[in-house]
Amino acid sequence: MKIGNINFGERPLFLAPMEDVTDIGFRRMCKRFGAAMVYTEFVSADAVIRNIQSTLKKIIIDPEERPVGIQIYGRDVNSMVEAAKIVEQAEPDVIDLNFGCPVKKIASKGAGAGMLNNIPLLLEITREVVRAVRTPVTVKTRLGWDSNSLIIDQLAEQLEDCGIQALTIHGRTRSQMYTGEADWTSSAK
Ligand SMILES: Cc1cc2nc3c(=O)[nH]c(=O)nc-3n(C[C@H](O)[C@H](O)[C@H](O)COP(=O)(O)O)c2cc1C
Repeated sequence: MKIGNINFGERPLFLAPMEDVTDIGFRRMCKRFGAAMVYTEFVSADAVIRNIQSTLKKIIIDPEERPVGIQIYGRDVNSMVEAAKIVEQAEPDVIDLNFGCPVKKIASKGAGAGMLNNIPLLLEITREVVRAVRTPVTVKTRLGWDSNSLIIDQLAEQLEDCGIQALTIHGRTRSQMYTGEADWTSSAK
């Protein structure tokens, strides 16, 4: 498996990005225990642009943890592009766009999984971020907003056309939040 120029071998183990969990110490520890790839907690594009120190602390990278992805979320093209350019200065190995967070305060404002209700905007953000940075761009999203809108197969192809280097699929819909078994069959097509 390859993302950009990084070769991960056949069955790499990736640490999922987790807010309030995947801080730098946790990432270093997971790396020592064999994680092939780790991610920062997601950070808000607006907070990055506004130079919020607690947010910028979350994107500090230790050479020991590489390869590492910085994950950002937001709901408009300009702020996602600007934030991607800023986080690129921390020299992550990939920049990951979060279109999967289900929590109300984020998704109901149209960011995270909320973007699944506005696919044209999701694709425009992705396309423009890919264009704006040299770092490989990846996306994480869900199967769809709910069981009546399982759009992931078509979305995966559209995202590929935008130039992303990898796609992580959380095998649940936004409506499922974190409940029940993840559907690995839909996301494995
Ligand atoms: C405490 C917690 C925080 C999370 N934060 C993020 C995050 O910042 N970015 C993200 O893409 N996913 C986040 N997730 C989702 C996980 O990365 C993962 O996709 C999800 O838990 C599905 O895996 P599971 O079926 O093993 O629970 C979070 C999950 C948990 C439990």
